[in-house]
Order: sequence, then C-alpha cells, then structure tokens
Amino acid sequence: MTSDRTRRGKGTEVHGIFQKIAGYYDRMNFVMTLGRHEKWCQEVAARVAPAGGGQLLDLATGTGVIALEVARRYPTATVTGVDFSEEMLRRAKAKAGAEAVRWQQANAASLPFENESFDGITEGYLLRNVENVDGVLREQHRVLKPGGCLVILETCPPSGPVKPVVKWGMRVIVPLLGQVVARDRSSYTYLESSTRAFESPQSIAGVLRGLGFKDIGWRKKFFGTNVILWATKAN
Ligand SMILES: C[S@@+](CC[C@H](N)C(=O)[O-])C[C@H]1O[C@@H](n2cnc3c(N)ncnc32)[C@H](O)[C@@H]1O
Repeated sequence: MTSDRTRRGKGTEVHGIFQKIAGYYDRMNFVMTLGRHEKWCQEVAARVAPAGGGQLLDLATGTGVIALEVARRYPTATVTGVDFSEEMLRRAKAKAGAEAVRWQQANAASLPFENESFDGITEGYLLRNVENVDGVLREQHRVLKPGGCLVILETCPPSGPVKPVVKWGMRVIVPLLGQVVARDRSSYTYLESSTRAFESPQSIAGVLRGLGFKDIGWRKKFFGTNVILWATKAN
C-alpha cells in the first residue's frame, strides 16, 4: 500500500533490540500487560485451528509463548516456531514442552517454506516490527493452505476518548517500566514509538482483504492498546 510502510534498515535495528532484550522479555511483557499476555496467547491458539491440528506455524515466536500454547492445545499438530533472533529462540528452546515444537531461525519477509504448507499461522507482535507489512502478509498468504486461518496479536495505536490517557501512559509508563524492570529505557522507548506509529486493525484488515483473505474479524484488548485479528484464506 503506502510507501511509508517500507522502512529500510528497520530489520537490523529490530533484530538488535530483540537480541538485547531476550533475557527479560517475558518479565517485561508480564508487567506491561499486567499478566494478560498469556491469556491473549491462549485465545490466539484457540482460534487458529478450528479442525484441531495439522501443520501450524507461529511467526515471530520470540520466547515461544504462542507456539508452546498451540503445541499444548493441539497435541497431534506439527508446530513450527520461527524467529530471526537467535537469542529469543534460545530462550524458547529452554522452556518446558519445547521439544514439541520445531524451532527455526528465519526472516518473516522471506519464509523458507513451500506454497500452501500450513493449515494455520499465528503471530504475536510481528507486523509493527517489519519493514514491509504488505510483503510480510503476502508471504503468509503464500505459505497458508486455502481455508487456513491466520491469527494475529498486535499492539494498536490508541483511539477514542481514552486516547490522550493511553498515549500519555505509553509515552511515560512503558519506557519507565523498561528502566525499572529491565534497566533498558531505550529499547522500550522504541516499543512505545513503534506502537503509536502503527496501523489500525481496519487498515490491516484492508490489506488482508486485498490479499485474498475472508471472514476477517478482530477484538481489541486492554483499553484498545492490543488487538487480536483473525482471517481465513479464501479457497
Ligand atoms: C515482541 S516479540 C513477540 C514474541 C511472541 N510472539 C510473543 O507474543 O511474546 C517480537 C518478535 O518478532 C521477531 N521478529 C521481528 N521481526 C522479524 C522478522 N522480520 N522475521 C522474524 N522474526 C522477527 C523478534 O525477533 C521478536 O522475537
């Protein structure tokens, strides 16, 4: 769509940030979402495989929270967790139940999978980190089988009457938490700015529709700061 979606050099910067914050990522996530992230991951997992299994892919798997939940929920499925950060994957592989997931290092912009390989794809907080949102979603459409589900967990730019309060909270509280919990203000300043600059669920839904997804829906979470979107690849 618009050219401002293409932000060159962002991939290298993002890779460096996640290599750096991997050790305290889960702790910060817990604090920032007041423990709700785990529940959202459970909802993402519950939505991805209505038929209960098959080949499932979790992109931007990070420390593996969604991939592990998917593997727990669908014991007969083959679950692949992909991320481009070696450090995040190292943490995922060390978790209980990790042997149930195939962990793979790859860039979501160019997936090392054949067309129509997966019955379902999940992802948590990938899109706001990539250089080309449309290209990354096109790649997901390519590797998904017709009729397959895509479920996305993302941050959401603040809107509506709570917008000024949420904006203030994100600008002040998130970097402050980064400072206090992780001794790393700069990485969490990036998180706050990437969220404010990101797109609305309506806009992501528009891209999905253009790519050939149908049955698109979403539900906002946590005062509209997070969103779960879902869509099905048309046959
Ligand atoms: C905020 S973490 C989310 C981790 C996990 N999905 C969750 O919900 O907790 C974002 C992850 O996306 C990964 N990532 C960002 N851009 C990527 C890309 N282009 N290809 C693969 N992984 C990417 C980062 O390395 C990081 O682990």
